[in-house]
Amino acid sequence: MAGIFAILLLFLGSSTPGRARTLYGLDHGPSNFDVVRFGAVGNGKRDDSKAFLKAWESVCQSTKPPTMTIPAGKTFLLNPTTFRGPCKSPAINIQVSGNILAPSSISSWGNDQEHWIHFKCVDGLSIQGSGTIDGQGHAWWPIKSAQETHALSFDVCTNLKLRDLHIVNSQQRHIAIHNSNTVYIKGLHINSPEDSPNSDGIHIQSSQHVNVENSFIATGDDCISIGDGTYDVNASKITCGPGHGISVGSLGKDGSRSTAEMIHVKDSFFIGTKNGARIKTWQGGSGFARNIIFENLIFTDVENPIIIDQYYCPNKGCKNQVNVSALISNLP
Ligand SMILES: *[C@@H]1O[C@H](CO)[C@@H](O)[C@H](O)[C@H]1NC(C)=O
Repeated sequence: MAGIFAILLLFLGSSTPGRARTLYGLDHGPSNFDVVRFGAVGNGKRDDSKAFLKAWESVCQSTKPPTMTIPAGKTFLLNPTTFRGPCKSPAINIQVSGNILAPSSISSWGNDQEHWIHFKCVDGLSIQGSGTIDGQGHAWWPIKSAQETHALSFDVCTNLKLRDLHIVNSQQRHIAIHNSNTVYIKGLHINSPEDSPNSDGIHIQSSQHVNVENSFIATGDDCISIGDGTYDVNASKITCGPGHGISVGSLGKDGSRSTAEMIHVKDSFFIGTKNGARIKTWQGGSGFARNIIFENLIFTDVENPIIIDQYYCPNKGCKNQVNVSALISNLP
C-alpha cells in the first residue's frame, strides 16, 4: 500500500494538470510555424537544418502553444541538429506530415556522432504524424563505431508524447529516451533490417513513468531496451520482430551500480526474434532489477523466449568472475 502511494505522489508531482488541457484543440493561426516559411525546401537534397532551427527558435519563443509543421509531400534533408529548450510555452506540438532524411554519408556529421535529431530540455513536447524519418543507416552498419548513435533522442524532457511516427534505417538506435519523465509513446512503426547492428528500437534510460503501446518494431537489436535508472516503465501491445526482444538491461557494466524497477511488459507478440523477454546483467556490477512483470506474451519462432542472463557478455571472452573458493569456504 505504501508503495502504491509513493508512485501516485511521484506521478502527480511531475505533471502539471494545466498542461494537458492545452495540448489539443489548438488555434492554428499565428501559433503555426511551417518550416517552409522559414526557408526549408524539402527536395531531399538541400540541407534544411538551418531553416528547421529558425522555425524552432520561433516555436520555442512562442507563448501560445505552438505547432511546428513539417508539411506533407516533401522530404527534408536534415544534418545532425539539436532542438534545445527550455521553451516559453508549456506545450509544443510538432506535426511530421512530410519526410525527414539524414545525410547518407558519415562525413556530413561533425565530431559528435551521438545524435542525429536531438531534443534537449523541452517540456510538454508532442511529436506526431505519419511522415517517415529515415536515418539512412546503410553507411554506418558496416563500420564498428565506439560511440552510440541515435536517430531521434530526447534528453531531459518532461511530458513527452510521440505518436504515429515511422522511423526507419537508423544509424544505430532509433529512439533514445534519457533523463526524462512522464513519456507516452503510441502507434510507432520502427523498421530496420535484421542485420543492422545495435539498432535498438526504443532505448529508455534514467527515466521514469514511461508508457509504450501499440507499436510495431522490427530491428537488428532489442525492440525495446530498458536500461539503468528506470522506474515505472510499461510496454504493451508491441509487435516485435525481427530483433532481440524486449530487454531489461544490460545492467552493471564495468562494475557499475544499476537499477531498474517497476517494469511491466504485457500483451505483446514476438515473431522471429532472437530473444523474447530478457533480463541481462554483467558480472561484477551491483544494484537491482526488481518488480518486473512479463505478462501475456506470445512467441512465434523465437530462439530464447524467456532469458534471464546474469553473465551477459555480447562480445564473448568475459572471464567468469565467480570466486569459487570463497563460495566453497562459505559452505555450511
Ligand atoms: C504502468 O502500469 C501500472 C499497472 O500495471 C500502472 O499502475 C502505472 O501507472 C503505469 N505506468 C505508466 C507510466 O503508464
